Amino acid sequence: MKAGIVICLGDLVKEKFGQQKWDAALEGAGLNKNAMFIPIQDVADETVIKVVHSACKVLNLTIEQATDAFGDYWVNTYAPKIYRTYFRGANSAKDFLLQMDRVHEAVTTNIPNARPPRFSYEWTNDKTLLMKYKSTRGMIDILVGCVKGVGKYFNEEIRVRKLSTDKIEVVFAR
Ligand code: HEM
Repeated sequence: MKAGIVICLGDLVKEKFGQQKWDAALEGAGLNKNAMFIPIQDVADETVIKVVHSACKVLNLTIEQATDAFGDYWVNTYAPKIYRTYFRGANSAKDFLLQMDRVHEAVTTNIPNARPPRFSYEWTNDKTLLMKYKSTRGMIDILVGCVKGVGKYFNEEIRVRKLSTDKIEVVFAR
């Protein structure tokens, strides 16, 4: 997976908990604490998962707390800096989420080995969206965290519920 995920997690841990915690998270995952990542670099999925689990342990967070914090930071701090253009076209959480399948495809077309998550959408009523998640990685908890982050970005009350390992329900207030 693209190193961006690890860089974003590192920024979050360093900013909110300090450099030492990030060093410990890297070491707990079997990496050198001075390991450097560049955004286009490919990092093995297992390594990303190890770093996330190690960070949870070091910070004493549950996976849900960690993936919520990650999704919030990714959507509200990291992606607006790195991927500003994708935020321009959308005016609501609904618009933004409906663009996410296209965005993930577009952002990774020129990157060898990228296997972006793909999403398909189904409305069960005018406020309730089922998002089906297709990925080889099974990171649906990150999906839930990112969707919550999108609610915050657009300042909207949205409810997100994991229905299975490949489906979430998103209820919009309007
Ligand atoms: C403009 C905003 C966003 C950009 C540019 C972006 C881009 C990316 C990129 C480059 C990856 C790594 C893909 C790879 O290495 O193959 C990724 C992973 C991921 N993204 Fe996003 N993302 C954005 C917002 C979101 C949002 C809002 C969601 C949820 C609705 C989301 C869900 C995920 C998930 C779950 C993964 C983990 C990889 C997987 O499950 O296979 N992203 N994203």
